[in-house]
Amino acid sequence: MERPSVASVLEHQVKARPVPRHVGIIMDGNGRWAEVRGLPRLEGHREGSSSVREVTRTARRVGISALTLYAFSSQNWARPAEEVAGLMELLREFLESEYSEILDNGIRLNAIGEVDKMPRYVKEPLERLRRDSAHNQGMVLTLALSYGGREEILHAMQQVARAVANGELSPDRLGEKELEEHLWTQGLPPLDLVVRTSGEFRVSNFLLWQMAYAELCFADVLWPDFRSEAFLRCLAQYQQRERRFGLTSAQIQREDTQRAKA
Ligand code: FPP
Repeated sequence: MERPSVASVLEHQVKARPVPRHVGIIMDGNGRWAEVRGLPRLEGHREGSSSVREVTRTARRVGISALTLYAFSSQNWARPAEEVAGLMELLREFLESEYSEILDNGIRLNAIGEVDKMPRYVKEPLERLRRDSAHNQGMVLTLALSYGGREEILHAMQQVARAVANGELSPDRLGEKELEEHLWTQGLPPLDLVVRTSGEFRVSNFLLWQMAYAELCFADVLWPDFRSEAFLRCLAQYQQRERRFGLTSAQIQREDTQRAKA
């Protein structure tokens, strides 16, 4: 009999325990992946698109509710024009080639960021897929496009300031919930886990507000090499963590025991 692969054993183990509801990924290292092979940087991004497909499929199989991918940051516009154009083209290709798979698998496609800044040839397939998948009940796949965490918080604050100026909101009634209603991630579950690839230890303006109590996994693998097995290892790491949200370990254990009894 053929021996099961490491990834399939890991997947089995991960599925047996609670998985994070919402995972965000900073997909870093495409450029370096290409450079060490003497290839143009864009080839790294192209190979990175295959990791996007594989990781999305794995996330869906293990039962993650929301996957948010940092595909293009507000700051990425300042990269060489050729690289920006190449990334836009890859996004268009992805949105067109994955159309059927996303619909067939009940995935809902979503986007956060200043999406209006994207070129029309990206916005159109994005809107089509968003519209056609809007009623899907499976995993929500969110692409962060022209996204920045500070930009998102500023945008929310502008909306709140407007509501206060119009007399619709009293400053005393402004709490976390009221601010969150204006974040682009409104409606998504709380962020449980953030993964960053490429061995760098930075959060690079990704989901800054949402990350407050997320667990972090830094994988020492460049994004194009980050496939199912590497992702499952991060999920398994997450499952080992004790999330305390500022409480003590004893309090958390007591809560768990009470929940188990109820
Ligand atoms: C960071 O690597 C990666 C990006 C800026 C873009 C991510 C894009 C993709 C994975 C492909 C297209 C996306 C989708 C959703 C199909 P880097 O270029 O900063 O790498 P480096 O740090 O090694 O230079």
